[in-house]
Amino acid sequence: MTTVQRQADSQRQPPAGGNRVLSPGLARLYAPILHDLDESDAIFRREMRSKYPYVDELVRYGCLLGGKRLRPALLLLSARATGPVTHQHLVLAAVVEMIHTATLVHDDVLDEADVRRHLATVNARWDDEASILLGDFLFSHAFYLASTLGSTAACRIIGRSTNIVCEGEIRQKGSRGDYEISEEDYLAILEAKTGELCACCCDLGGRLAGATRSTVQQLATFGRQLGIAFQIADDLLDLDGDEDTVGKSLGTDLNKQKPTLPIIRALAVADSVDRQEILDIAQQATPEHASRLRPYLSKYDAVSYARQKARCYANRARLQLDGFANSPAAESLRLLTEFVVQRAH
Ligand code: IPE
Ligand code: IPE
Ligand code: MG
Ligand code: MG
Repeated sequence: MTTVQRQADSQRQPPAGGNRVLSPGLARLYAPILHDLDESDAIFRREMRSKYPYVDELVRYGCLLGGKRLRPALLLLSARATGPVTHQHLVLAAVVEMIHTATLVHDDVLDEADVRRHLATVNARWDDEASILLGDFLFSHAFYLASTLGSTAACRIIGRSTNIVCEGEIRQKGSRGDYEISEEDYLAILEAKTGELCACCCDLGGRLAGATRSTVQQLATFGRQLGIAFQIADDLLDLDGDEDTVGKSLGTDLNKQKPTLPIIRALAVADSVDRQEILDIAQQATPEHASRLRPYLSKYDAVSYARQKARCYANRARLQLDGFANSPAAESLRLLTEFVVQRAH
């Protein structure tokens, strides 16, 4: 049992006032918008209340869970890099974090995960029913909050992107156990389930700061490529990361038969004997599968291949910012492309 699992003890309470502990590296990257991020966090916390004690406890637990705040940071940095940050941005930053949190609460049910953001998941502390309902509460509140701003464009973009994210999760569920999946199809799922919301954040940040159409387009492409790089790296962490450091249940992709890039790559280049062996290990889903797969992944350089792919998407993201005027916020966006790939080293 890892320390993280021990900490998943269902009695563990989140600290009062929130659990947002940014690493020093992220706090530096977010420096141009740290104050805005605090304000959007305050909006999130204020909105996530209920007069019914049972609901209130559940909802507050769900939103008090700290995290990297990547989506609100992308939205606020995209705004700062192209114009002024307004009240609309602060509210929308809370909205995208609500949507992201909803997808995680639901995802932890699908993955039967025990730990999230260094705390017990809602499904471990309560149960699957509570998680499903909390996710619904978060999604619906996010759409309600977005609608209070009176920007039909923002509502349309958020609605469409959330729908694509959910579709991505469903496509991934549909490809469970399909180790024949092509790299292209795997990447398309990542684009939907993770790239889309990051693209939406960058688009909204720039659009509502008054950026030109082409700048908004560049920001959206930046977010999309960055999100794909981030998810490839996250999949690497799931395979070979340290739960105490990452703060969430790992190994769930293999447990749930979700094919990820290192395995897809190894299967694509392995000789027929190794290929069969890799397939057998992946399909058996035993506790030792990660360690049994390791020699094959190493023989076929599959982990370095996935790291290179993540870097390639991160580079594509950075290229989108080439024409941007120099500013601390634009520099933070550039540096985030390095952060997302470094996570898996
Ligand atoms: C987790 O996202 C889900 C993925 C897209 C990999 P994050 O790693 O951004 O989660 P938090 O918000 O920091 O907990
Ligand atoms: C992330 O997928 C879920 C969404 C992007 C909606 P994962 O299953 O990889 O996320 P983690 O690893 O549980 O955070
Ligand atoms: Mg998961
Ligand atoms: Mg993961």
